[in-house]
Amino acid sequence: MIGVQSLTMAKRPFFFAAIFSGFLLLLAGNIAVAHMGAAGVVKQRMDAMSDIGKAMKEIGAMLRGRLSFDSNRVAANAQNIAAHGRAIPSLFPAGSGGGVSEAKNSIWTDRAAFDWIARDLVSNAEALAVTAATGDRAAVDARYKAVAATCKDCHRTFRAKKR
Ligand code: HEC
Repeated sequence: MIGVQSLTMAKRPFFFAAIFSGFLLLLAGNIAVAHMGAAGVVKQRMDAMSDIGKAMKEIGAMLRGRLSFDSNRVAANAQNIAAHGRAIPSLFPAGSGGGVSEAKNSIWTDRAAFDWIARDLVSNAEALAVTAATGDRAAVDARYKAVAATCKDCHRTFRAKKR
């Protein structure tokens, strides 16, 4: 690295211009990364949804007796769903539809309804977690069905299944 002090006064403007254009290049790079991030957020929400799906599957298997019933596992899964649910609005920024995404454009034209169902998912999943702690299987089953209905509610209106 050349010391700035060692540069003659005549060369200094060029030195700083070089640094500045390097900075501009870095900035351009960041914008390119941000555009790739649009694909990133689609991947992120698909991963979140898959995780939600896995959690639901495990609870369902317990309720159908295919896995032994563990109220702690039910509660942990329900809390995981609630946590993902809280992040849903931020995972669907405007303009992140299209391409491989199954998100319908109505998410952005009917934003309030979309966010409302996301909140509904959170409160239903939280209620499921609370109910799991009581160990009352019938009550857990009812709460589980309420969560499942919320998934369907949103998918019916806001997801165009491609696969
Ligand atoms: C507030 C709306 C909303 C709620 C509630 C919701 N989803 Fe989704 N889900 C979507 C949208 C929109 C997509 C499509 C996302 C995309 O492709 O960009 C999706 C996609 C998925 C996918 C496919 C993921 C992939 O790999 O492409 C699964 C699985 C899924 N959801 C499961 C669930 C389950 C299970 C629940 C309920 C516990 C649920 N979702 C609740 C809106 C919702």
